[in-house]
Amino acid sequence: MNRREFLKFGSAGLAGLTLGGTGGALVSVRRARADDDNQLPASPPTTPFVQELPIAPLHLPVAPFTTRCSTSSAPLFYNVHIQERPHSFHPQLPDNLIWGYNGITPGPTFHALIGQPNVVRFFNDPPANHTGFGVPNTVVHRHGGFQASEDDGFPIDFFTPGSFRDFCWPNVTAGNDPREAEATLWYHDHLVDFTGPNVYKGLAGFFLMFDDVDSGDETDPNPAALRLPSGPFDIPLVFQDRAFDRNGQLVFNTFEHDGFLGDKFLVNGAIQPFLRVARRKYRFRFLDGSNARFYEFFLSSGQSFTQIGSDDKLLPHPVVRKSIRIAPAERVDLVIDFSQYALNQTVFLQNRLKQTDGRGQGGLVSGSGTPILQFMVDRDAPDPSQVPANLRELPPILLDKVGAKRTFEFDTGDDGWVINDRFFDPNRPVAFPRLGVPEIWTLINKGGEWSHPIHIHLESFQILSRNGKPPAPFEAGQKDTVALGPDETVKLYIQFRTFRGRYVFHCHNLEHEDMAMMARFDTT
Ligand code: C2O
Ligand code: CU
Ligand code: CU
Repeated sequence: MNRREFLKFGSAGLAGLTLGGTGGALVSVRRARADDDNQLPASPPTTPFVQELPIAPLHLPVAPFTTRCSTSSAPLFYNVHIQERPHSFHPQLPDNLIWGYNGITPGPTFHALIGQPNVVRFFNDPPANHTGFGVPNTVVHRHGGFQASEDDGFPIDFFTPGSFRDFCWPNVTAGNDPREAEATLWYHDHLVDFTGPNVYKGLAGFFLMFDDVDSGDETDPNPAALRLPSGPFDIPLVFQDRAFDRNGQLVFNTFEHDGFLGDKFLVNGAIQPFLRVARRKYRFRFLDGSNARFYEFFLSSGQSFTQIGSDDKLLPHPVVRKSIRIAPAERVDLVIDFSQYALNQTVFLQNRLKQTDGRGQGGLVSGSGTPILQFMVDRDAPDPSQVPANLRELPPILLDKVGAKRTFEFDTGDDGWVINDRFFDPNRPVAFPRLGVPEIWTLINKGGEWSHPIHIHLESFQILSRNGKPPAPFEAGQKDTVALGPDETVKLYIQFRTFRGRYVFHCHNLEHEDMAMMARFDTT
């Protein structure tokens, strides 16, 4: 029984999947959509900016082990245990049991070097008797990663509690082209029909990649090195929204198919934390790790952000932006320079985007919005870093080489969300792109008021046009996820290389994805 059948017919036997209250009811998407009393009561109050921003630990390799992975050069080996562990979202809330990679959320951060493969053994170790939402089968997807089909986390390739699976991440660039070097990836659960609850329960982490150019060393003497802020001044930030019941326990509504929204804002797993910063430049890797929420970030001081990357890759040139709009699964790599502030000054990162349900974002609020992160400028520090005018050259767009044009329409169906009128069928590819042949894909949002952040696995793409116009500079680089607003059309250029097999593309509003807005394509 798949998720849509389960929701339609109900099942007391699967009560563990649901939040109390609505379990077993005959629920169709249509009804749930019309029914706005699906709204949860407000979470308990919490005092903002009383806890320090957590920064996930760097994940360290282990001794080599026997693996099914075959790699061209000597890999680094890692173990990751998927575990249920207590987690504190806020000192005024009781600990909650979350699911985390190594028991923490976000999971440990990987630093990888291009050219050095990783073999990562994920052990699925959830408790035998887990209760509440979440399904303890799992499959791991490294989002933005260039990897073989069997290592990509195809949604039905899950492994069960008590077992493990090795993921072979080659860390090569597409086409062996250094212009295709990746920077900011993330890894997360991709279980068919249940990615939403599993990611909400904590299964997400960062995977950062470096090479000679983006070397992660701001003092690198190599003239090719960009010398972007590095080490303790390169901080990944995942933004998520969560809801809590009156006892301070995390809640999730399995029947909210529009997209689940919480009323508490987390950065790196903590509700409204603060970060002490020095008067110098910092690199931040923003990730919208929320199931369905869009954000638009501003600094309370009015200062601009210098964007250096979009999704998995660096931009060709930095782009200065007053605000940063980000959709579920998108990443924005950026630099903030705190050198202009006085000691002991505080600056807030504010979300000013209105969003009242999972359909998508509204406009900007009139005031200063919700402060999500507080920067406390508290010291001086040397700053050998720079933001060069040239970052990473874009690979060329070869329109005369295009071998296929495809159109995909994203729309609402009777019991879920559809692509070209079909629900996800893991056994039915909708396209057979040929390796090495560029294609043009036209993505059309037919669904009126809805927004759909669309993500394509295996290769990133370049946007040719949005609604017939050339893309803005901040989305004119390479991307792996593109937000389709109401009635929007995006044309993109994409080319698949090296790996033959089955992959998916889908809406990254996780509730839409779980309600079947996904399609399989096979590279041939
Ligand atoms: Cu981030 Cu197919 O997912
Ligand atoms: Cu992906
Ligand atoms: Cu969607």
